[in-house]
Amino acid sequence: MAANHPKMDIGELKCDHTWVRAGIHGVIKKTIDDKLVVKYAATYQDEKHRSLQQYSAVSYAKEKEIYEHLGDHPFILKYYGETKVVLDNGEKMALVFQYHPAESLMRAIYENLMDNYAEKKMEWFIQIAEAVRYIHSKDVLHGLIEIDNFLIQSDGALVLADFGESIIHGKRERMGWSFKFGMNYTKECEIYSIGTLMYQISTNQQLYPTESQEEIAELYRAGVIPDLTAVTIPGIADIIEKCMTKKYNNVEELLQDLRPVVAANKSIPTSALTTS
Ligand SMILES: Nc1ncnc2c1ncn2[C@@H]1O[C@H](COP(=O)(O)OP(=O)(O)OP(=O)(O)O)[C@@H](O)[C@H]1O
Ligand SMILES: [Mg+2]
Repeated sequence: MAANHPKMDIGELKCDHTWVRAGIHGVIKKTIDDKLVVKYAATYQDEKHRSLQQYSAVSYAKEKEIYEHLGDHPFILKYYGETKVVLDNGEKMALVFQYHPAESLMRAIYENLMDNYAEKKMEWFIQIAEAVRYIHSKDVLHGLIEIDNFLIQSDGALVLADFGESIIHGKRERMGWSFKFGMNYTKECEIYSIGTLMYQISTNQQLYPTESQEEIAELYRAGVIPDLTAVTIPGIADIIEKCMTKKYNNVEELLQDLRPVVAANKSIPTSALTTS
């Protein structure tokens, strides 16, 4: 059991056979009590997928290391430690997390569920920034600050998840999607990503829906600011623009701009402010 994590007896975990997600690198399954999920490395038997097999193991180990390093935080997915799970094809070690049935911010956007969260959006901006500020304070770069890696808790607050590609103390195992930012992946890249998330939450839509990862990378490197006219929440477009043009040295500076904007807008339902 990791230090600073909520105490729970995870020795007797039983999985049901529902997959929350079977990704390329990790598999996530619900446990039968419906409160927890386990995440284990995907297995590939054939030689052809050797590198995927290796990366799945690296990613699993990285995620464990990071959660144990970060400890408990209100806006980081709750991690309860590592356990053995029994599967049809044998036993596996798995990481244990709190289950959030609403799943991700990505699901809320793609499945047009954002109206359910109109009153939560202003807090989401703060929660996202606080989560990233916290991991940076622990010398961790997440690597994939994106809508599929923020989960929605039962009270509507967000938690950051998926640390398989993270960088701790400047050490990275492999370039994944974060490679789109180039070799020099920094806090500024993650602040840029916060700007992207703020755009998506404000407008209920993807930013650059048709562009490839390479094209988005080019826009990032060229310092191109997207059309922000759809961002109608007062004060938010200016902050997104600053995120995307490297005006913040760290997330605390971003929060200093954000807190008064959120406080001023909190009484206005954001459903009345968004255009879509
Ligand atoms: N604790 C959880 N509760 C509910 N849903 C979860 C939980 N953890 C992950 N998920 C769902 O599974 C998805 C993938 O999880 P995660 O980001 O941890 O895995 P991944 O390694 O990125 O997998 P993928 O290869 O699919 O990207 C999330 O976007 C979310 O929809
Ligand atoms: Mg993910």
